Amino acid sequence: MDVYEAVTSRRAVRGFTDRPVPREVLERVLSAAAWAPSGSNLQPWRAYVLTGGPLAELKKRAGKRVVAGDPWDEREYEMYPSALKSPYRERRSRFGKERYSALGVSREDWEARQRAASDNWQAFGAPAALFCYIDRDLGRPQWADVGMYLQTVMLLLRAEGLHSCPQMAWSVYRKTVAEILSPPDQLILFCGMSIGFEDVTVDYIRTGRAPLDETVTFVEDSVLQSHAE
Ligand SMILES: Cc1cc2nc3c(=O)[nH]c(=O)nc-3n(C[C@H](O)[C@H](O)[C@H](O)COP(=O)(O)O)c2cc1C
Repeated sequence: MDVYEAVTSRRAVRGFTDRPVPREVLERVLSAAAWAPSGSNLQPWRAYVLTGGPLAELKKRAGKRVVAGDPWDEREYEMYPSALKSPYRERRSRFGKERYSALGVSREDWEARQRAASDNWQAFGAPAALFCYIDRDLGRPQWADVGMYLQTVMLLLRAEGLHSCPQMAWSVYRKTVAEILSPPDQLILFCGMSIGFEDVTVDYIRTGRAPLDETVTFVEDSVLQSHAE
């Protein structure tokens, strides 16, 4: 698979089969992903990979919290600014519409939306999950490094015929995740990631992207010429 195909075939998959992911595949992917760039080569990511009994136990405990309507753990970082401005607000709302209409859930059906969201904490049925932490003393550039690392992992998973879904949702049950992983207090859970083989019977709507000229500006010779005129 070439890099373009890996990039364009990666998407947030929210339904996996129970076919196990071999340990050696995960090791191959994570060994290669370690080559992701980071400022001054700090490599600020700290990943835990869960499969088998420990993942089943995490799903069980998280599921109990969902059923009990347990409040979310207090935030260690804000997922989004409280007042999302344009154009992000519109993009987010479009994403929500697409996500729930693919499931046949209406905007008003709050309970069905909650049920769909709760699949997050079953790792969408995936047989493997990765939890990525970062040292709480590190700053924004290092969080960006972690993003590059996670995308590298996701692209390499594509090369192995696997799919993934990155999930900040796990951060709201971070204490339950910590019960299973026992990470040092010094670490903040940024993101989980479900990993496995896609369940192709699950419906989805492929997300779109903003037109290139909304997010990219080319500054080239013609710009200098127009300044000179
Ligand atoms: C850091 C990060 C966190 C995300 N958290 C969640 C999540 O908690 N649950 C979920 O279903 N999708 C999550 N997503 C997936 C995004 O919704 C998805 O990447 C986006 O809508 C674009 O769609 P695509 O990945 O299918 O191209 C997350 C993505 C990123 C990059």
